Amino acid sequence: MKVALIGLGTVGRGAYDILKARNDVLKETVGAIDIAYIVVTERSKERLSRELEETVVTSSDYDRVLDEVDLVVEATGAIDIAYDYMKRALEKGIGVVTANKAAVSAYYKELTELAEKHRVPFLFEAAVGGGIPVLTPLRALCLQNDIGSIRGILNGTCNYLINAMFKDGADYDETLALCQELGYAEQDPTDDVEGYDTRRKLHILIEMAYGHIDGEAIPTKGIAQLTGPVVSYLKEHRKKVKLVASAKPVEGGIEAVVEPVVLDESDELALLPDAINEVDIEGSWVGDVAFRGPGAGKEPTGNAVVSDIVSVLSNGALPLLSRGDVALKPVFGRYLVAEALEGDFVETVDGDFTLTREMERDELLKHVDAETFFARIDA
Ligand code: HSE
Repeated sequence: MKVALIGLGTVGRGAYDILKARNDVLKETVGAIDIAYIVVTERSKERLSRELEETVVTSSDYDRVLDEVDLVVEATGAIDIAYDYMKRALEKGIGVVTANKAAVSAYYKELTELAEKHRVPFLFEAAVGGGIPVLTPLRALCLQNDIGSIRGILNGTCNYLINAMFKDGADYDETLALCQELGYAEQDPTDDVEGYDTRRKLHILIEMAYGHIDGEAIPTKGIAQLTGPVVSYLKEHRKKVKLVASAKPVEGGIEAVVEPVVLDESDELALLPDAINEVDIEGSWVGDVAFRGPGAGKEPTGNAVVSDIVSVLSNGALPLLSRGDVALKPVFGRYLVAEALEGDFVETVDGDFTLTREMERDELLKHVDAETFFARIDA
């Protein structure tokens, strides 16, 4: 399958690296993925032409590129330019994979209708939740279920920034700059901290789960006003705040909002570390399902792009990779045993209970019989 990759920023580069690294495995299983063209701006063309073996072109060559490729992979951060690239591909009957939440949100209805009209794939797994596979399962969930509430943390930068402020009293501006260095934040991080990026992602989920709305009408407040004193106040009360996106069907429509939410510090969403995202979805048949994983960054997001490319190539039916033998290695751990034991491996004995040191599980089995309760300590 011949692919044109548009944009070689954080996400484009992530997808490119994975396609290169997994080239052999993918070729053997789903088929060859040939990056026939890389479409970039005039400014970066010269540098990338020297660096890469692929043909690097600019938008002026796009018509010719479309005549030759089977799939367009759009990985720019632009909105209208990206829309134009995608529209032209779909109109020519060429499938599109994109990571561009801004363009998908702004042109959701038009692009999905165009793809349907031309009966070509339009996949955007990377647009919501970064590396979390959530949109692919949501497509299936929507066919089978009425979707109840959707709730989640959809911006890695904000999650990282809030965690750092609560944990170490980190400086807001310095941490935001770090998020940019780590490849989490948008080019203009205002989109992250004001909640616009989260709003776009929630909007895409809403379009898929409930129907068409004006995404920009979703009430939105970000975390730009979160200050040290607010953090201290919440910590004193054993609370934490997170930027939460939520939507649910209500009489006559849906309710949706993106705003900071105060949570108990032990709440699952409060505990989400680093740039991890989570999407909780209520399905009428399946019940409550949670999707959690890296919400931003070059490799996780690149991985989501590649998984869409693989879906297109395999028509959704993923082959099983045939693997060789693998060794089952010994398990180690600290254990709680419901019996007073003696030996080098014992850390403490507390009445009828023993806490062991880190030890090989097989070694423990030599000291306990099958009737004795024991459990590995994970806390
Ligand atoms: N800026 C986004 C985030 C990137 O921080 O979540 C992933 O969409």
